[in-house]
Amino acid sequence: MANAATIYESQSSLEASFTDDTFQFFAGLVYEQSGIVIGAQKKNMMFSRLVRRVRQLGLKSFEDYCAFLRSPGGEGEIVAFINAMTTNLTKFFREEHHFEFLEETVIPEIIANKGQNRRRLRIWSAACSSGEEPYSIAISLHRALPSLGDWDARILATDLDTNMVARAAEGSYPAEALKPVPQAARHAHFLTDPHKSNRLVACASLKSLITFRALNLLGTWPMKGPFDAIFCRNVMIYFDNPTKARLVRRLADMLKPGGWLFIGHSETLLDHQDCLALRGRTIYQRIDG
Ligand SMILES: C[S@@+](CC[C@H](N)C(=O)[O-])C[C@H]1O[C@@H](n2cnc3c(N)ncnc32)[C@H](O)[C@@H]1O
Repeated sequence: MANAATIYESQSSLEASFTDDTFQFFAGLVYEQSGIVIGAQKKNMMFSRLVRRVRQLGLKSFEDYCAFLRSPGGEGEIVAFINAMTTNLTKFFREEHHFEFLEETVIPEIIANKGQNRRRLRIWSAACSSGEEPYSIAISLHRALPSLGDWDARILATDLDTNMVARAAEGSYPAEALKPVPQAARHAHFLTDPHKSNRLVACASLKSLITFRALNLLGTWPMKGPFDAIFCRNVMIYFDNPTKARLVRRLADMLKPGGWLFIGHSETLLDHQDCLALRGRTIYQRIDG
């Protein structure tokens, strides 16, 4: 078993191998693969996220990790590398006003505009992290859409981080995390997790509405859409302006005319007034023409 002195020694030799060059290589790879910009001020954050992975792989230095990622055999490692580099902070009903708007404006409008027999509703949670966002959307659908069972209602939940997509699909959360969920909804849609103590798991009433998939917002999108609403929240903050501009244009194209785009509290869409109009706090509507 390693003693404290050996662990200390291995930590400091790993630190020494985390040079500016290795940092630049990792930052370049993250940007190329995900669009996430990691500036030099985040060097310590990158070190602490990657050091675990380097140890897990039994490598002696960050140079070895670079070499592994560059090698043909290291292609599969890129997924684990990217998973380590994403920031996945989220919570149920984060930015509550979005869910109020969904329930009080978006869904009533969809109900009012439904054509004959066209009870179809599509929502995309485009950076769903561990699932709190799509489950909150599903709860809002139950609350705002009477006779939900008569609707062809689907939520697509996607994220780049494959670990997060797996966690989201599992739908098991510490009881504490469920606090923002209204009590009636908690009782109606969550059960005690039989496999893990002090955790609650989402019921089929929510899960059956959601499809979980790994998807890179920078890559090709296999779905056709169009969506009634897209939640793309707190992910564009990690992108530079050209990436953001391309993404917003593609998101607008994925919306129905009159469809809704929800973005994060610190995000803005300054130059898309031709296709998206601001209708509420960080809420945009697709306008055509
Ligand atoms: C801070 S979380 C936001 C979660 C949720 N939308 C919210 O607002 O609470 C950002 C998520 O964006 C994902 N992400 C980062 N780059 C991405 C990309 N290129 N494509 C898809 N998802 C990405 C991360 O994996 C992470 O789960």
